[in-house]
This record gives sequence, C-alpha cells and structure tokens, in this order.
Amino acid sequence: MPTPIATAVPVTHTGILGLGVYRPRRVVPNAEIVAAIDSSDEWIRTRSGIAARHWAEPDETIVGMSVAAARDALRAAELDGAEVDAVVLATSSQMVLGPSAGAVVATELGMHDTAAYDVSAGCAGFCYALADAANLVRSGQARNVLVIGVERLSDLLDTTDRSCAFIFADGAGAVVVGAAAQEGIGPVAWGSDGSRTSAIKQDKGFQEYFAEVAAAEASGGTSVRPYIRMNGTEVFRWAVTFLEKACRDALDRAGVAASELDAFVPHQANIRITDALVRTLGLPETVAVARDIIETGNTSAASIPMAMEQLIRSGGARPGDTALLLGFGAGLAYAGQVVHLPPIA
Ligand code: UT7
Repeated sequence: MPTPIATAVPVTHTGILGLGVYRPRRVVPNAEIVAAIDSSDEWIRTRSGIAARHWAEPDETIVGMSVAAARDALRAAELDGAEVDAVVLATSSQMVLGPSAGAVVATELGMHDTAAYDVSAGCAGFCYALADAANLVRSGQARNVLVIGVERLSDLLDTTDRSCAFIFADGAGAVVVGAAAQEGIGPVAWGSDGSRTSAIKQDKGFQEYFAEVAAAEASGGTSVRPYIRMNGTEVFRWAVTFLEKACRDALDRAGVAASELDAFVPHQANIRITDALVRTLGLPETVAVARDIIETGNTSAASIPMAMEQLIRSGGARPGDTALLLGFGAGLAYAGQVVHLPPIA
C-alpha cells in the first residue's frame, strides 16, 4: 500500500470577483493607417467594424499594462494581492521567453512566493486561463487566482499587410477568480486544430530570423523580422461555421439556454463574425452583445475582458448578469464558458 497523499480541500462554487482593464493612451484611427495598405476608413468599418484601435507606446509594456489592469481587478474584487495564490497570464506577444510575464507581474504587484505562469492559446488565451483558474480554485489548490489577458500585437504588425495591419491592437484585461456562494463560471468547452496553424501564425521562428540576421551581417544584405500573418478568409469561414457548436457546447455544459443569456461577449475578431454568431445562435434582442472592436480593434487574448468591461461600463450589461464568453483564433483554438459578469473598478 503506497503512503497516502492528502488532497486539497475543494470548494463548491467559483466566480469572477472583479474586473479591470488597461487601454493604451495612443488612439489610432483608420485614417492613420489606410495609406500604407491602400484601404479606406469605409472599407475597414464595413468589413471589420473597426473605427479605431489603441497601439501601445514604448513604456506601455506587457508587464506594465498587466499590472495596471490587475490593480483595478483587485480593487473591484475588494481583495489584497496577499490573498492571491496564483497568477495566470495569457498572451501571444510577449517577446521575452523567460521569465514568464506572470511571475514579473506578480512581483510588481507586491506578491511574494505566488505561483505564476503564462498561457499561449492565441485569441482563446483568456478563456483558457479563466478555465484553468476556476479549476485551481474549485480543487482547493488556490484561494484566489489573478487571470490576465494582455497583448502588444503592434510589435508583430507589418503595417503594410492588408490583412492584419488594421485589425490587431494592444491592451490588457484582468479578473480575479475566487470562491463564490453560487456557481459563476460554467464548465469550459474548448479545443484546437493544429493542422490549421497556417491560418494565423508568426511567419518565421526566431531561430530562422537569427540565421537570416547572421547571413545578412556576413554578406552585407538585409533581414526581415518576424510578423503575424493571417489568412482572413479561412479564419472567417471557420468562425462562422464551426463556432456555433462551441457556443452550444458551452451553454449545454452550463445548463443554460441561449434565451436565458443576458449578454454575449465573443472575442472581438470582426463585427461580422459576432453578428453571424448572434444570428445562428438565435439570440433574442434582449441579449446585450459586446462590440468593443469598434473602438478597440482586435486585442487577441485581451479582447474578452476588455469587451466585458466596455459592456458593463456603458450600461449594456450589469455585474451578476449571465454571459456567454467565447475566445477563438490562432491554433486554431477556441474556448468558451458561461459566467456571471463581475463588478468593475
Ligand atoms: O483574432 C483572430 C481571429 N481573426 C479573425 O477572426 C479575422 C477573420 N477574418 C476577417 O476578419 C476578414 O477575413 C478580413 C476583415 C481580414 C478581410 O475581410 P474579407 O471580407 O474576408 O476580405 P477579403 O480578404 O475576402 O477581400 C475582399 C476584397 C478583395 O478585393 P476583390 O478581390 O474583391 O476586388 C481584397 O483585395 O477586399 C480587398 N481587400 C481590401 N481592401 C481594402 C482586402 N484587404 C483590404 C483592405 N483594404 N485592408
């Protein structure tokens, strides 16, 4: 008989206790980027919904934006950093592979000896991290978990690329997950399809880039840094055909009917994808739909918490409302869950 090992003491219910965001100072309207991609404000608004986005300035780092969003999330949750046992940070644009941004954020928030790590799941990253956090709390492994979605995608943008330059943007959103009196985070519906990585990806690895730099130095030639690339049509088709199943799966697992939702907060990829999902799910007009993409662009792992905050701040939805979240993108990966919306700072 092996030596018995104790288990952590599980809690029955988890919830999102508070939400905070950081929007970079610099607002970039369509007019500023159209010349380089031979486009127009009207084309971008009609094909994507985007009117403007925020691009971070040099001092608005992944860590700095995360810390700002996390401080507000903790304030909204009325919790101190000392009560947080883990930090889970989702991003695809942190250019430093080690240490994890999560560990640096935890330290900058004054936390000591706190578990911290990063999650890479593209635009689904926030919902992956939220599921992870809910499971850590539910299992009794952590009292409270700080979940952060953060991006500086402008660092990976080829500003002459017609498919990507107008879409991607920067920002951060954070939530605190902890024990709750009733369930506030439903089971996650998630998956991925690595056979379709070419639909959205970094166009070259850093090893390939470093070899190019070395060759260029030796020959006096030039090298081109890695950029994010996307086959927009392929992603668009996948989103409007496959993701209905993901939404229904998340609703079924939570035991919530589409007609019982107060709000729908999908990843802010393209307003036409959001509209198509609203139609195929048959969401009634009473469901508030997040359309933060208009002013914020597509901030990948940060888009869902930022869109939640915008929806609550504008009065479209209230803390406690029942909402379906759905993240999707590079991987191709997706994750969705039904939640009760949190208070905001
Ligand atoms: O966050 C990760 C997930 N990402 C997404 O979900 C993004 C999904 N994809 C999309 O949002 C859309 O595919 C885009 C907004 C990127 C593009 O919209 P589209 O309706 O799929 O455009 P398209 O690529 O099919 O191109 C339609 C037309 C073409 O012209 P013709 O052949 O019809 O004459 C393009 O040359 O629009 C032209 N076009 C542009 N025109 C002005 C393509 N890009 C641009 C542009 N400005 N930036």
